[in-house]
Amino acid sequence: MTMIDTMIYVHIPFCDSKCFYCNFVSGIYKDDIKEKYFKKLNEEIEYHKNKNYNVTSIYIGGGTPSSVSTKYIGEILKNIFKNYFVSDNAEITIEANPCSLTKEKLQDYKKFNINRLSIGVQSLNNKCLKTIGRKHTKNQAINALKMAKSCGFKNINADVLIGIPNQNYAKLKSTVRILKKFVTHLSAYMLINEPNTKLTKMLENNEVKVVNEDTCVNYYNKLVKYLNKFNFKRYEISNFALKGFTCKHNLGYWQGNNYLGFGLSSHSYFNNERYQNSSVMAKYLDSDFEVEKHKLTKEEMIEEHIMLGLRTIYGVDIQYLKSIGYDILSSKKDEIALLEKNNFITVVKNRIVVNQDKWGVINQIILKLLP
Ligand SMILES: C[S@@+](CC[C@H](N)C(=O)[O-])C[C@H]1O[C@@H](n2cnc3c(N)ncnc32)[C@H](O)[C@@H]1O
Ligand code: SF4
Repeated sequence: MTMIDTMIYVHIPFCDSKCFYCNFVSGIYKDDIKEKYFKKLNEEIEYHKNKNYNVTSIYIGGGTPSSVSTKYIGEILKNIFKNYFVSDNAEITIEANPCSLTKEKLQDYKKFNINRLSIGVQSLNNKCLKTIGRKHTKNQAINALKMAKSCGFKNINADVLIGIPNQNYAKLKSTVRILKKFVTHLSAYMLINEPNTKLTKMLENNEVKVVNEDTCVNYYNKLVKYLNKFNFKRYEISNFALKGFTCKHNLGYWQGNNYLGFGLSSHSYFNNERYQNSSVMAKYLDSDFEVEKHKLTKEEMIEEHIMLGLRTIYGVDIQYLKSIGYDILSSKKDEIALLEKNNFITVVKNRIVVNQDKWGVINQIILKLLP
């Protein structure tokens, strides 16, 4: 029997408080729901069990996985190791936030073979943190990073936000200047004003001022240059890493690898089929794990490869597109010639890559190359 490579995502939808900007499937739940949830999650992991699945990465995300007892995290990982073949060099990440991370939890994570930490820092400016409803301070975030290092974690990411109301470039740069001493990877996201969030209401009521898009793009471009000086290379539009520390799991998503998603609202993509669990807690707790699957059409596969590929330094694979029926070099001959002539893209060997200084207009480039 041949082995099938796959990644695993596990969703932990619990947080200790809701940040003003966040509309992720996460919330504050009582302990009895948490207990029921983890029971169901373990049933789901067992339901799909297959020792011929070679698990190349596991990502425990949320919500805030560090907010729950490590007993639950240990059980989940034990269950995955028991029911799947986990590759020796699998990348195993857990998301954490500075309020709930403790030395004891970090030590447990190490025991469970977790080898990558992703900490939501967002900013190291106390005013910015307060504006977006974060419950930790700058010092708490720095302490969490120090603790992670002293517990032996060598692969650490921090999430930061660009465009927090009242953030200026100096504040953003100062955040990153400190973070780079502790981390091997940075995810810098443009703050999105999501519908039905407290932040969006605050903006509507003029309680805070929105940072306009051009300013955000300007901060982002400066940040790319700044991080580059310290060898944090951008490998995807929001992701920067030191050499050898790109996130395998994220790269796997962008390169179209298989992934199985377990838990509330989790998506899966396996053998070109896409499916998703319910985002409603009561429905998930009652689910029999039979979900409707959608087989991707050729057109969807082509679009997906172009949209995800162009956002990374690896670009799109011309040969792969040809193999699924899209000869991009001949179908988009004129567009490619014009984009190349104006230095927006480079066609190298078998790939089309967006030039580093043109990432600000990636969406327009993608539109030009879609079938
Ligand atoms: C699941 S959280 C990370 C772990 C933990 N829950 C925390 O917040 O510290 C994932 C990340 O998504 C980003 N995020 C959430 N809502 C966002 C929004 N509206 N715009 C941009 N980024 C957002 C934040 O940077 C956050 O750290
Ligand atoms: S940003 Fe993180 S901690 Fe804040 S509500 Fe969203 S998932 Fe929870």
